[in-house]
This record gives sequence, structure tokens and C-alpha cells, in this order.
Amino acid sequence: MNIVLIGFMGSGKSTIAKNLAQKLGMKVADMDNLTVEASGRKNIKQIFEKDGETAFRELEIKIAKKIAKKDNQIIATGGGAIMNKIILDYLKMSGKVIYLKTSIESIFTRIRVNGDRPLFQNFHEIKRLFKLREPLYKAYSDIIVVTDKKNLDQVVEEVLTKYGR
Ligand code: S3P
Repeated sequence: MNIVLIGFMGSGKSTIAKNLAQKLGMKVADMDNLTVEASGRKNIKQIFEKDGETAFRELEIKIAKKIAKKDNQIIATGGGAIMNKIILDYLKMSGKVIYLKTSIESIFTRIRVNGDRPLFQNFHEIKRLFKLREPLYKAYSDIIVVTDKKNLDQVVEEVLTKYGR
């Protein structure tokens, strides 16, 4: 069984994945990192610039398919993975899906518009994406953990409790 973390950019998926993996003696599969590795590019920004978002999404599907075949992993998805039903189908088959629910206000205090995230650039676009995706995160998850006003340890503890560990 895997644990699949979903949520908007800045919800803490990668950090929480590392922490959970350590506590549970599981491996981390960070989809953003694996996608960059598979692309041969330096980072996500470069994939978007040189190859475009569609190429990035295609790679994301390949990575999801590959990691869904493995076990004992905490999977940190990219924030847009839920826009692609194929990805969610692969991941859902492989484990429990946990939504790290974070308000747009918290997200704006946690991450900066600095170019690292190609889709976190324009205030109105970010809000539009958030509204569009929020119901999908909810619909696809087995467990919801609200991260607002909680530190890393508190979120991890709540994930473990709700997951039954
Ligand atoms: C994206 C989120 C990013 C990364 C890419 C696209 C999105 O991951 O996959 O920039 O569409 O929300 P994080 O959620 O880890 O920032």
C-alpha cells in the first residue's frame, strides 16, 4: 500500500512526504522530482519553458504509471496531478489518497511568486486554479487533513491518526 498526498501548491506535500516516510520506514516518491529527472531538464520551470505544459503533463502520467506499480511509498504529487484522471486512477489503485487541505490565504503566506512554479505567477490565475481544483481534491481523497495554522509535526500526527497508524 502507498500513501498518496494531494493538494494545491504550497500545501506541504513534499515536506510532509519526507517526514511521514521517515516515521513509517517507507520510501518517498516525489512526482515533481521524478518528472524533472525523466525530462532531462534542470527543473520544472525549464520543462514548461522549453517543452510546454502538455509535455510536462504527459511525463507526469508516465511517472504515475511507473510508481503505481511499486509499494511502500509516500507519493508526493504535483498540485496539478488531480486535473488528469488517468494519473488519479493509477495512484488511487496503489494506495490511500490524503488531501492536505490548505486555504488560499495560507498558501499565499507560504509560497512566493518567484518563477520556480510556472503556474504560481498571477494572482487571479492562482485563485482561478484554486477554485477549479478544490472540489477535485476533495472528491478524489479518502482522507482530508486541514493544514492551516498547524506546524509540520501536527499535520504529520493528524495524517497518522486518520490513516490509522
Ligand atoms: C503544479 C504544481 C507543482 C508542479 C508544477 C505544476 C500545478 O507542484 O507540479 O509546477 O499545476 O499546480 P507543487 O504542488 O509541488 O508545487
